[in-house]
Amino acid sequence: MNLASSTASAGSSVPGWVLVVAAVLVSGLLLAGPALRRRYPVAWWLLLGFPVAAFRVVQTWRPLMAGCGLAVSRRPALTVVSGLVGNGAPPPQPRVPRRGLIRPTSGGFVLLVRLLPGQVPEDFVKAAPAMSEDWQVHAVRVTSWKPGVVRIAASAADPLAAPQLPKQRGPGHLLRVTVGALETGAAWVLDLRRVPHWLIVGATRSGKSTLINALVAGLAPQPVALVGIDCKGGMELSLYEPRLSALATNREQAVRLLAALVDLTLDRMTVCRAARVRNIWGLPDKERPVPVVVIVDELAELFLVASRNEKDEAQAAGTALIRLAQLGAALGVFLVVAGQRVGSDLGPGVTALRAQLGGRVCHRVADPGTAEMALGDLNPDALKAAQAITPEQAGTAVLASGDGWERARSHLITEAEAEAVAAEYAHLTPVLSELHVEAP
Ligand SMILES: Nc1ncnc2c1ncn2[C@@H]1O[C@H](COP(=O)(O)OP(=O)(O)OP(=O)(O)O)[C@@H](O)[C@H]1O
Ligand SMILES: [Mg+2]
Repeated sequence: MNLASSTASAGSSVPGWVLVVAAVLVSGLLLAGPALRRRYPVAWWLLLGFPVAAFRVVQTWRPLMAGCGLAVSRRPALTVVSGLVGNGAPPPQPRVPRRGLIRPTSGGFVLLVRLLPGQVPEDFVKAAPAMSEDWQVHAVRVTSWKPGVVRIAASAADPLAAPQLPKQRGPGHLLRVTVGALETGAAWVLDLRRVPHWLIVGATRSGKSTLINALVAGLAPQPVALVGIDCKGGMELSLYEPRLSALATNREQAVRLLAALVDLTLDRMTVCRAARVRNIWGLPDKERPVPVVVIVDELAELFLVASRNEKDEAQAAGTALIRLAQLGAALGVFLVVAGQRVGSDLGPGVTALRAQLGGRVCHRVADPGTAEMALGDLNPDALKAAQAITPEQAGTAVLASGDGWERARSHLITEAEAEAVAAEYAHLTPVLSELHVEAP
């Protein structure tokens, strides 16, 4: 009796305070929501954003697959028969690809999907924009996981809008520099020993020099020689002059410097041959020559010609760069070449040079042709991702080397910071007297 009456009285008193608490919680959440979301983005996403997004995926999966042509009708003949003979019974639902668990990540979610017979991963790549619209997420990336299975990764917001990753401190591994953050939240590491030569393209003010700043700031504390070729009169690279073993600021100097670099490479080849090793890493530590990283800012300045005399210079520069790219990797000479446009309109040597620069970084581009030149015949969605970069996202780029591609954003290393780092490590600058080629 007592129990019954106490339950009844509790039942009548609960709604009042529960309502008040709920109202306070909801209004508190509404008021503090934006600040909490900014402060604890991962917790916010896991507690609130992800459950809603996962619900959307479950709700929209079947119509989405059907709408994108990824559903397969079951036994079409039977469907007709069931429609005719089945007294109006609904025809069987089409089969949709089987979806695995939706797993949250720190800023999105991933799921694996088993392909139906006759489907290829490209069918899902084409459906990615529709998925991001339906699930109301920033972007969806589809990659082939293993035969018959694709991996769908969605990011709720653009993780590159404000990358949180710390900048590199100290020297780190030789020829390896953390220059920014990848879309996955991991560090963007430029590893010259793995991919020795890089091509960096992008329209004006898209972030090419900022990426070079990050690279130089990372390499400066390492035992490497840095060589600059900046035919914009040295406006970009002269900042690091104290840490550069050589700097060419016009084409005439550049041609002589490149010829000297080719000679240096050939000398190293002789040393390696005499020691019967295939590259400088096979030499004993004491005999190993210092790695040289050659940075070219604005390739077009080297190649564009107005007169006959300039044409010969441009050709000589082009040939020397191609030879460096061909021989350099094994002999410790690495190329990082930046340019706004790197097309065959610059001259015949450019296409051959481009083919030798295996690492590609494509920032915002002014025309689709440049993105195509940089990213080649990679996934068509890599081209789309490069073309979607806006001027506000300076420093954002699509990276490609070997298989696959990813989006990334460089650390914003200002000119002043790069200048300070170069001055701090000026004492580490190796003296390469064979590269001293200033005009007499
Ligand atoms: N990673 C980044 N994060 C934030 N802002 C950036 C980033 N990279 C570049 N920016 C902004 O874009 C501006 C232009 O960048 P940068 O000088 O690197 O362009 P660029 O491609 O070298 O241009 P140009 O072809 O004219 O030399 C920078 O001053 C900076 O404000
Ligand atoms: Mg620049």
